[in-house]
Amino acid sequence: PQHSAILGTGSYLPRRAVSNQELTDFLAAKGVETSAEWIQTRTGILQRHFAEGDETNTSMATAAAKQALAKAGVDAQSVDLIILATSTPDQIFPSTACGVQAALGAQRAMAFDIQAVCSGFVYALTVADSMIRSGQVRNALVIGSEVFSRLMDWMDRTTCVLFGDGAGAAFLQVSEEPGVLGCELKADGTLGCILNADGRIENGRIVGDPFLRMDGQAVFKQAVSVLGSSAISLFESVDFQLDQLDFLVPHQANVRILHAVARKLKLPESRVVVTVGQHGNTSAASVPLALDLAVSSGLIKKGHNVLLQGVGGGFTWGSVLVRM
Ligand code: ACO
Repeated sequence: PQHSAILGTGSYLPRRAVSNQELTDFLAAKGVETSAEWIQTRTGILQRHFAEGDETNTSMATAAAKQALAKAGVDAQSVDLIILATSTPDQIFPSTACGVQAALGAQRAMAFDIQAVCSGFVYALTVADSMIRSGQVRNALVIGSEVFSRLMDWMDRTTCVLFGDGAGAAFLQVSEEPGVLGCELKADGTLGCILNADGRIENGRIVGDPFLRMDGQAVFKQAVSVLGSSAISLFESVDFQLDQLDFLVPHQANVRILHAVARKLKLPESRVVVTVGQHGNTSAASVPLALDLAVSSGLIKKGHNVLLQGVGGGFTWGSVLVRM
């Protein structure tokens, strides 16, 4: 049987980092009251990056993809498949994945976007793994890239302090050895209302609310509950024991969510990769960004068992267990 394995990772963060204090001052000028201390203690976020100027979803995704290809030692012409997870594409169509294909010069690759909000990267990884295992493609670039700053209502302090922009990527290739050990994806569309961006373009105008809206407490509770249960059910289905797990790389929304999941799984906090402090919540980019940082810093090494987890709007969630 064939498997897929991650050969390289990459990431891109916008040049502009914005501290809690800078954001607080910007909001104060609009009459919106918050504090650097509130943001840090309630979320663990210290700063986030915002795309500006020539930094677009496509450019950030392309930069992250180039790094992943370089680390895998593969050139763009050999890529078979590009899947890009995003909820903030540069336009309605063509897909951002097609823009990345053109920018990379990956002429042979098929390319499409996946939209599962903050679960997008684990959704995309699961599809790429299936297509590799079924023999349809020999390799895949899987990217999560977001410009969530575009969806912020700067008058809404309950959301605008939480999010940031960025991109992360992983290059997967067919392999004799796993690689990806198992995947589990879930969705519950009845919870669509707790986290959404409702607006759309109709007859040349934006119809509905163009901003991200969230019931923070409902999302918090749901995230802790589904991340815990998803990990447990995936481990059971592939006969994997928690003590074999080296690192958890969960979606980076709030450090309190990450610690609650770790407690639920009885996993020491030292084995949870936490980047939310530096990046804020970058939605579909958060998991591959965190993975790339942990790999680049030498924390995650070849042979480590790593659980990647996403959770977000839809409501969607999922887990992918990988041997690096
Ligand atoms: N600055 C100051 N005060 C604030 C701010 C702010 N930026 N935002 C909210 N408050 C106030 C509220 O108005 C409220 O005041 P009140 O008690 O007078 O009504 C008070 O702080 C407490 O609000 P809560 O919503 O109870 O605060 P909580 O501790 O739940 O933290 C938060 C809110 C950070 C949104 C939290 O619920 C959370 O992290 N939820 C998870 C949602 C999440 O991370 N979503 C990201 C997208 S989803 C995903 O990626 C899975």
